[in-house]
Amino acid sequence: MGKHILLLGAPGAGKGTQSKRLAEEFGLEHVTTGDALRANKDMDISDMDTEYDTPREYMDAGELVPDEVVNEIVKEALSNADGYVLDGYPRNLDQAEYLTEITDLDAAVYLDVGEEELVRRLTGRRLDPETGDIYHTEFDMPDDEDVQERLVQRDDDTEETVRERLRVYEENTEPVVEHYREEGVLVEIDGEQTPDDVFEDVADAVESA
Ligand code: AP5
Repeated sequence: MGKHILLLGAPGAGKGTQSKRLAEEFGLEHVTTGDALRANKDMDISDMDTEYDTPREYMDAGELVPDEVVNEIVKEALSNADGYVLDGYPRNLDQAEYLTEITDLDAAVYLDVGEEELVRRLTGRRLDPETGDIYHTEFDMPDDEDVQERLVQRDDDTEETVRERLRVYEENTEPVVEHYREEGVLVEIDGEQTPDDVFEDVADAVESA
């Protein structure tokens, strides 16, 4: 049976970068609520008694999309996966409780990165819309000029929205990290190392999970 891995960390901690590689290396499904929501940004959720009518409005404001919407996405994705690396979920204690009801975990891996580094990473992040590959204007640009030209910035990577996302993280998601620490399943990794060194630590954690 494939492993059940959770990757936790603040916005910009490197969850997407590491999960993609982890999924390839260990043959796991990469389940990411952020990508799933971006692909369905304009889905009509007005019948769910939510404040806004679409995920886009929450995401552009840096707020969490309502649990009802996100829980459904995760349940569906996990029901089709043998092993998985879950990235971007759970983001509050209610989501963590829901996750316990629908699956079990082998490890919760936490990437620890300081706030100023997070802001630098997010405001410099660029994405390749064709492959989903993640780059950074200072640390990691593609060699291919065609790829360089098509890179885009995420709508929520402006400095103002980034600060709000970090506030929301501190309020809602830090208690989730504490929850897994108390449960004794948290593996903490220094997320400020180079991407390769972070990957080595993450892979060790997954292998011994
Ligand atoms: P989501 O897409 O999950 O975004 P996030 O958690 O804010 O995380 P990011 O994707 O921004 O960062 P990351 O940790 O993946 O970093 P990355 O690897 O790209 O969520 C977006 C929105 O969707 C939320 O605000 C919310 O509205 C909604 N949402 C999603 N899930 C939800 C849920 N469960 N409940 C409710 N709402 C939800 O790296 C960042 C940059 O740093 C890149 O440029 C990369 O190249 C660079 N980098 C990475 N690692 C390193 C390194 N070691 N050294 C130097 N640079 C590095």
